[in-house]
Amino acid sequence: MSDARQSTGAGRLWGGRFTAGPDAAAWQLGVSTGFDRHLWRQDLAGSRAHVHELHRIGVLTDAERDELLAGLDRCAALFADDAFPFQPDDEDVHGAIERWLVEELGEVGGKLRAGRSRNDQIASDLRLWCRDACDELVGLIGELQHAFVGQAEAHLDWLAPGYTHLQRGQPVLLSHHLLAYVWMLDRDAGRLRDARARLDASVLASGALAGQTLGLDAQAYADHLGFARVAENSIDAVASRDFALEVLAACAILATTLSRLGEEIVLWATSEFGFARVGDAFSTGSSIMPQKRNPDVAELTRGKAGRVIGDLVALLTTIKALPLAYDRDLQEDKEPVFDAVGTLQLVLPAITGTVASLSFDRDRLAAASVGGFALATDLAEELVTRGVPFREAHEVVGEVVRLAESQGVDLDGLDPQQLAAVHPALDADVAARFDVQEAIRRRDGINATAVASVEAQLARARDAADTNRA
Ligand code: ARG
Repeated sequence: MSDARQSTGAGRLWGGRFTAGPDAAAWQLGVSTGFDRHLWRQDLAGSRAHVHELHRIGVLTDAERDELLAGLDRCAALFADDAFPFQPDDEDVHGAIERWLVEELGEVGGKLRAGRSRNDQIASDLRLWCRDACDELVGLIGELQHAFVGQAEAHLDWLAPGYTHLQRGQPVLLSHHLLAYVWMLDRDAGRLRDARARLDASVLASGALAGQTLGLDAQAYADHLGFARVAENSIDAVASRDFALEVLAACAILATTLSRLGEEIVLWATSEFGFARVGDAFSTGSSIMPQKRNPDVAELTRGKAGRVIGDLVALLTTIKALPLAYDRDLQEDKEPVFDAVGTLQLVLPAITGTVASLSFDRDRLAAASVGGFALATDLAEELVTRGVPFREAHEVVGEVVRLAESQGVDLDGLDPQQLAAVHPALDADVAARFDVQEAIRRRDGINATAVASVEAQLARARDAADTNRA
């Protein structure tokens, strides 16, 4: 192998036992600075904690500690300016930072590696990153929930058709339909919180897998980094990525919620439905059809679900057969996590703006809410209150619907004699059940669609949104 095919390996942390440098293709395969550079904040935070611990156990003098902390600060400033000088021979962000510290500070830069391994470093970095990502996503979910709360409040008593099987089922309030998303999103936020709580354990001082001999205190790292507790087992600490899987699963489910929302916006904005119009700022034109007004943001929201679900499946597949403890395969954990979180950070504000921009067509919604025999269930339930078993009431109303359909009218278009002929319990008073407002008003359970119920729900929804946004 010629030298040209070899890396110089100057940025390697492990050259000692080898006589030749790595093959260039092998090196390229292993280099991770292209993506793990995003962990610089977390890596430097871990290094600061480590400097303090090395100082406490006497490995660093006061002066060395101060020199290293100042060096780490300068390093952070470079990263913050996007000016950190990565070299082609830097294998990963940990190696790059160590190389830079040695160049900058000389021998003392090489003291930082004592008692730690990239295995515990990377696990710590990713946990810290995921912790912040969960917080950020929960906040963005809160913003989206607020967009729904605002729309629900502005359209509190507007009618809308409620669907099952995408067939008109029963009338509801538009606000009730909109608030359904607040609770779906609330569980999405809850899953991120749960994942965050479970991953909130410190892994530094685990070393490569078995801990270390220097007397470093795992609890001290937890305290420095603000972790809630210390991971119980050093092998588990470096080998496990179920925390990342949980974050990805929560992301995938959130993306699925958003995809359903995107689909519904697309549908409601068609001329066929015509229930909603997306604001100009969240619509796109066509390059050839001048009349077009396309709901691209909603479509992309739906489309992005595919890649976020893919990110979850990718990492599940990577991890499923790995023996304990650390395996290099685990380097593949970062990109799916970054991609899923980054995708949602892009999608959430855009779909939030889209929801806030929606204008609704009151007349079309009202017309659709009463069409299609939407009050048939109300009529059947009325018969139940008159002593008819529901099984029979269902049959009877089915016959009434068939009759109305054959005459091309809705239920309220049938004359009272015709109704009475179908069943004696269908007297003139049942006409009261053909009123959509009445149908809404009577559904006054705490989770139902009466105006007063939705008003109370709205207050709870606002609290939920506030909690997440905070
Ligand atoms: N770049 C590695 C990763 O992301 C860091 C740990 C490498 N450890 C090792 N023994 N090669 O997982």
